[in-house]
Amino acid sequence: MKIAVAKEQDPAEPRVAATPDTVKKLKALGAEVAVEPGAGIKSGLPDADFAAAGATVSADALNGADVVLKVKRPEAAELGAYKRGALVLAIMDPYGADAALKSMADAGVTAFAMELMPRITRAQVMDVLSSQANLAGYRAVIDGAEAFGRAMPMMMTAAGTVPAAKVFIMGVGVAGLQAIATARRLGAIVTATDVRPATKEQVESLGAKFLAVEDEEFKNAQTAGGYAKEMSKEYQAKQAALTAEHIKKQDIVITTALIPGRPAPRLVTAEMVKSMKPGSVLVDLAVERGGNVEGAQPGQVVETDGVKIVGYTNVAGRVAASASSLYARNLLSFFETMVDKNSKALAVNWDDELVKATALTRDGAVVHPNFQPKSA
Ligand code: NAI
Repeated sequence: MKIAVAKEQDPAEPRVAATPDTVKKLKALGAEVAVEPGAGIKSGLPDADFAAAGATVSADALNGADVVLKVKRPEAAELGAYKRGALVLAIMDPYGADAALKSMADAGVTAFAMELMPRITRAQVMDVLSSQANLAGYRAVIDGAEAFGRAMPMMMTAAGTVPAAKVFIMGVGVAGLQAIATARRLGAIVTATDVRPATKEQVESLGAKFLAVEDEEFKNAQTAGGYAKEMSKEYQAKQAALTAEHIKKQDIVITTALIPGRPAPRLVTAEMVKSMKPGSVLVDLAVERGGNVEGAQPGQVVETDGVKIVGYTNVAGRVAASASSLYARNLLSFFETMVDKNSKALAVNWDDELVKATALTRDGAVVHPNFQPKSA
C-alpha cells in the first residue's frame, strides 16, 4: 500500500495533506509513504521532518501510488502522474465543476470529496468543513482587527477612554461561532445573526446578542442535515431592513453565510456599506462563493469612502500550520476506515455511508448521484 502526499500545485494553497505525525500513523497502518519535496514548507513542515517520520521524500512520490492525499482537487494537467485506480482524498469543490470531475473520471482515479462527509457523530473527526471553518472564523477577526484603525477592547487610560469596538457576525455556523468567541476574547461588543433558530441559544451562550427576523419561515429554516435553506425573497427583504439599521452602528462586520451547493446569500448591500462610518471594516468569508457583501473582491481589500471590505480567499490557509495539522488528522481518520487492520491492505467498504457520501468518481465514471453529468 503506497501513499503519496502531493505538493499543492496552486501557489495560493499553503496547506498540506499530511504532517510528520500523521505520516507515522499511516506507516503504522502498514503503508509506505512518499512526500513530494517542499509539500509542507508553507505550513512550516520541512522535508527533513517528513523523512524523520519515516516518509520517503521524492519527486516521483505520485508514481504508482495507490492513495494520494491532497488539499485541493487535482486538475487535469496533474492527473497524468496518477495511477489509474488510485484513491484521491481532497477538498474537491465539486459544485459546478463538471469538467474537473470528468477529468478525474477519465484519469480513472477514485476521488473522495472530504467536504461531503456526513455530519454524523462517527465522522466528526473527519469533518474538514468544521476544522477549516473554525480557523477561518478565528482568522477573520484577526484580519478585521488588523484592518481596523482602532483598538478592540475598551481601554480606560489617563489620556482618556477608548470605546470597545462593535462587531457584528452574520452567519453563525462553525466559522461564525469561532468569530464570536474570538471577538469577545479581544474585548469587542458582539452581536450576531443567522436564519437557523438553533443558533440563537449558541450566540447567547457565547455572551453575544442575537438579532434576527424570528417569523414562521425562520422557525423552519434548518434542514435535517443542520444546514440553512435558501430563504424567500420576502424573508431576505425583512432581514435586510433589520440589519441595515444595525450595520450603520457597527465597527466591524464579519459575514460567513453559506448555503451548500448554492451561491452565498447577499446580506450586505452597497448602500449598507456606504452607511458605515469611515474606518469601519467588513470581512467577507463567503467571497469565494459569490460573497455576502456587495463589492467584495476575492483576494483583495477594497476601500470606499474609508470603509474597507476584506475579501481574502482561503482564509484557513492564512493559519496554514494549524489548518494543515487539523486537515491531516481529518484525512487520516477517514483513511483509517479504508484499511483492513489485519491484512494491512486497502479495503474500501463501498456500502459504508461515509464512502457513499463522498465518492465522486470510480472506474472511469462520475458515481455521485448529486454530480451526474447532464445529458445533452
Ligand atoms: P455553513 O458554512 O453552511 O453556513 C454558515 C452559516 O450561514 C450557517 O449557520 C447558516 O445557517 C448561515 N446562513 C445561511 N444563510 C443565511 C442568511 N441568509 N442569513 C444569515 N445566515 C445565513 O454552515 P456550517 O458552519 O457548516 O454549519 C452548519 C451546521 O452544521 C450547523 O448547525 C453546525 O452546528 C452543524 N455542524 C454539525 C456537525 C456535526 O458533526 N454534527 C459538525 C459541524 C457543524
